[in-house]
Amino acid sequence: MSPSRAERSLIIMKPDALQRGLVGEIFRRFERKGLKIVGLKMIELEDIMLEDHYAHHKDQPFFDSLKKFMKSAPVILAVISGINAIGAIRLIVGPTKGYEADAGSIRGDFSMSGQANIVHASDSVEAAEREIARFFKPDELFDYQKPEFPWVYSNGDK
Ligand code: CMP
Repeated sequence: MSPSRAERSLIIMKPDALQRGLVGEIFRRFERKGLKIVGLKMIELEDIMLEDHYAHHKDQPFFDSLKKFMKSAPVILAVISGINAIGAIRLIVGPTKGYEADAGSIRGDFSMSGQANIVHASDSVEAAEREIARFFKPDELFDYQKPEFPWVYSNGDK
């Protein structure tokens, strides 16, 4: 069994999430799971940010189309934390292609596309910390207690 630990994930609610009015629904799913929002902002992505964020996709045939899509409307950036949050969030979001994602996941419920797949979520602790630093300054991230936490986690989780 993998060790338990507090983790942070960078979430990007993509232009299709805003255009389709899904922002509240997406936050609802993370909040009701017991995850904590520790950073939040709305921005318009620029080429330089996208070329950095999607550097591992730069040779893919869909790269230019992906950049155009990600600049087509503002995005919401959120940093979400919790014990074992990276894996838990990936399950809530679902796999890349919406048409292959299980019903009940965000992509399974709301996406039919490989590109317009509503949400980005970090895929590892290392990637998350890199991605968070790309978009958030340290003083834009918040540390606070949630009174529900003793009911979300048990001692064995910490
Ligand atoms: P994301 O999980 O944010 O990571 C990379 C993004 O590239 C992915 O979501 C999709 O938006 C996009 N993407 C991945 N595969 C394809 C594809 N085959 N065609 C178009 N876009 C893709």
